[in-house]
Amino acid sequence: MTERCHGDTRPPTGPRARTAVVLAAAALLAATGAAFLPSTASAGTTLGASAAEKGRYFGTAVAASRLSDNAYTTILNREFNMVTAENEMKMNATEPQQGRFSYGAAEQIVNHARSRGMSVRGHTLAWHSQQPGWMESMSGSALRQAMLNHVTQVATHFRGQVVAWDVVNEAFADGGSGGRRDSNLQRTGNDWIEAAFRAADAADPNAKLCYNDYNTDNWTHAKTQGVYNMVRDFKARGVPIDCVGFQSHFNNNSPYVSNYRTTLSSFAALGVDVQITELDIQGAPANTYRSVVEDCMAVPRCNGITVWGIRDSDSWLASQTPLLFNSNGSKKPAYDAVLAALNNGTPVPTTAPPTSVPPTSVPPTSTPPTTAPPTTPPPGGGCTATLQDSTRWGDRFNSQVTVSGASNWSVVVAVTPPQKVSATWNGSPSWDSSGNVMTMRSNGSGNVFGFTTMANGNWTRPQVLSCTAS
Ligand code: G3I
Repeated sequence: MTERCHGDTRPPTGPRARTAVVLAAAALLAATGAAFLPSTASAGTTLGASAAEKGRYFGTAVAASRLSDNAYTTILNREFNMVTAENEMKMNATEPQQGRFSYGAAEQIVNHARSRGMSVRGHTLAWHSQQPGWMESMSGSALRQAMLNHVTQVATHFRGQVVAWDVVNEAFADGGSGGRRDSNLQRTGNDWIEAAFRAADAADPNAKLCYNDYNTDNWTHAKTQGVYNMVRDFKARGVPIDCVGFQSHFNNNSPYVSNYRTTLSSFAALGVDVQITELDIQGAPANTYRSVVEDCMAVPRCNGITVWGIRDSDSWLASQTPLLFNSNGSKKPAYDAVLAALNNGTPVPTTAPPTSVPPTSVPPTSTPPTTAPPTTPPPGGGCTATLQDSTRWGDRFNSQVTVSGASNWSVVVAVTPPQKVSATWNGSPSWDSSGNVMTMRSNGSGNVFGFTTMANGNWTRPQVLSCTAS
């Protein structure tokens, strides 16, 4: 990913400042020259870990009702570092009665994810479908006002907890028109989408704001071109849009096509991130899953992939067995193909250490400089943990910690505010109340764990505070 994802923060800004941030990032890339890391195979052993090593995320849709299923949460917690609420953030769930908001099920998912170091995509603020009954029967300016209030209230409620919002979902028509879908929202005026984006921007300036749709995978299709033209127009006019989500529900009627990569890269060229947001593929053919992941990895601004459920039995299309785990929780061949494609993939571009960080932001002298030798914590806990710098991007960096002297261990690592850990791999993390001190416990994945830190302007190396054998 390029900027502002995985819980990164930016100062409250309006649309023009948002554009300026993007332009500044582009200028930095131009000034420093985007450097791509060699695409050597990496050692990630889970989907989230492998994606994070390449500067991306791997997520899944989660249903709150399944969080009490141990087999489900075991896979969720082990494999994924991004979560989308499958239904719990939709309009009918969050505002069942006008002006009365209900966040319980959504918060269950958000809390489960964030307490384990996963990030959250919000789905969705405005949609023609899954509207509460009171909204379905509204029209005109009353509906427009109700929609904007909904966007404002929900985005404000989850401010700081959701890294990206599907602000508007599925607003374009199927078929050959390339135009908007008819709906009560569309009938409030063609500007309803940009109005929703502006309301979301005002409510949560730090979240990435996405347009999300299905059947937009084939570059030659009118619907794809319709969405593309809208995004191009939004970028030209400074409407605050950061990303486009491609649901990517592939089946026999809407199959994967080889120009999918062209679609992703063409949208990215408009200056937005692209994300695969609801991936499932009828029959889960390993080769097709591999192609989808390879296409994302080939596009630097394709910064994450989300599958629409964990096991086949969790899918909205269970009979199509379209997911990466079968109903008893075993990995399917498609899983192996996806993991290999992630490990073989190209990392997102790195930049030279940001020249925009002025010397005055150098950390206090008591803080070890980033050039300090690997940190070795005081002995005494029965093990030693050594931290090494790994990949570094324009906004974040990876660290790798090697533990020796114990196979069951717990390592405490601190980051310096406003840094935030946004992804971890090969360990089970927990956090203190400040969110700055992470305790990583061995989880059977070996003695090397890693994590991604969003710099938020501070490039101080994280510190290992202790290593304890258990
Ligand atoms: O929870 C109730 C249950 O109490 C009730 O007995 C039952 C009877 O119908 O319904 C249950 O709710 C269902 C809900 O899924 C949870 O299973 C709804 O009827 C059903 O409409 C809903 O379907 C969801 C669908 O969106 C419509 O919102 C699917 O789970 C969900 O996977 C699907 O997700 C969408 C994305 O949001 C947008 N893109 C397409 C994707 C697939 O349709």
